[in-house]
Amino acid sequence: MAETDVLAWRIDRGRLERSIEELGRIGATPRGGLTRLALTDEDRRGRDQMVAWMREAGLRITVDRMGNIFGERAGSVPGLPPVMMGSHVDSVPTGGRYDGQLGVLCGLEAIRALNEHAVRTRHPVTLVIFTNEEGARFQPAMIASGVMAGKIALEDAYNARDRDGIRLVDELERIGYLGPEPCVARPMRAYLELHIEQGPFLEEEGLSVGVVEGIVAIAWSRLTITGVQDHAGPTPMRIRHDALVAAAEVVAGARRIATEIGGDLVTTVGTLAVTPNIVNAIPGRVAMSIDMRDPRDAALDRARDMLDELVRAACAREGVTYELEHYWRVPCTAFTPDVIAAVERAARATGARFHRIRSGAGHDAQYMAAIGPTGMIFVPSHEGRSHCEEEFTAIEDIEDGANTLFLAALDLAERA
Ligand code: GLV
Ligand code: MN
Ligand code: MN
Repeated sequence: MAETDVLAWRIDRGRLERSIEELGRIGATPRGGLTRLALTDEDRRGRDQMVAWMREAGLRITVDRMGNIFGERAGSVPGLPPVMMGSHVDSVPTGGRYDGQLGVLCGLEAIRALNEHAVRTRHPVTLVIFTNEEGARFQPAMIASGVMAGKIALEDAYNARDRDGIRLVDELERIGYLGPEPCVARPMRAYLELHIEQGPFLEEEGLSVGVVEGIVAIAWSRLTITGVQDHAGPTPMRIRHDALVAAAEVVAGARRIATEIGGDLVTTVGTLAVTPNIVNAIPGRVAMSIDMRDPRDAALDRARDMLDELVRAACAREGVTYELEHYWRVPCTAFTPDVIAAVERAARATGARFHRIRSGAGHDAQYMAAIGPTGMIFVPSHEGRSHCEEEFTAIEDIEDGANTLFLAALDLAERA
């Protein structure tokens, strides 16, 4: 068959749309979003649904020790490494129906389309579903691809605990996804991940596809401030040591760091746990998170130094003690030129309106890039909204993205 005919092949938009609807019902929230935290019963049901569909598509299923699920479609040449496509099915609380879900469903649809066209590829094509990408329940994010890339120790990942003190490994076992395969780097031809952009740029520019060049550097820190818990009435202001007052300075100061350093640095305090958290007691303890990201590793280093100083000064002023832990850092990641080029060719062949773009969100692709050739495909997020129930991507754009993924995977896997 001529190459031009291959480039005319397309995924089945109706089938993809129905799968998005169906998977989106598992953990659905009343306002059209999704709460499917990693390794909960909802996550298990989402995984089970995906595995059932992967089996129907003829894939050989394996599960590794981090609960990552692999579904392999065999290649025609023994021993060649697979083209992998993947993302995640866990969500943040009151998140959207597209973050992660769309990547695994478009990967599945690409495989269904290969089956439909009875294509044989030289390389295997493997769909992968990563565990706990979000980092909402267990920290850090992307923990399972991190273990796979050798960047996070398996033991540390197993011992990650949620807010109730439940260990990740115990939940993996409970939901039946503590697999036997080693969670280690494996040879691959390429890793491709389709994802929503989660920012406003593609929509603003009227584009349907982003050819992703790389991902910003990400740093997560944990701060615990200890003051003196006391009565809110009889304790005069002059003798107070209020952990929340110091924390408030840090919240405002983290915002100031972003404006002072400028460029694309973003800083977020996303969690704040106040103890005892009642009306009439001076807070004795505050635990909080700080998330900072920048496409320049050096700027992120500078932001971390400024955060150190901010916390020291704020706590000294209030006479409280603290512990500041910079526990997770992923460097700025550039994707592989030949994979980016394959994605761009596929976007062009699809007829997508596309542009190169950088990711401000973390993805498993960031760790996969440490293992082998990697690239990503973005589709627009309406009003740039994500990690919220309003998350939305139009099916026309999803179709362009899915076709780009399909043709890029076919290109990299090489027709037999
Ligand atoms: C993952 O959603 C992230 O924090 O970027
Ligand atoms: Mn995601
Ligand atoms: Mn996310």
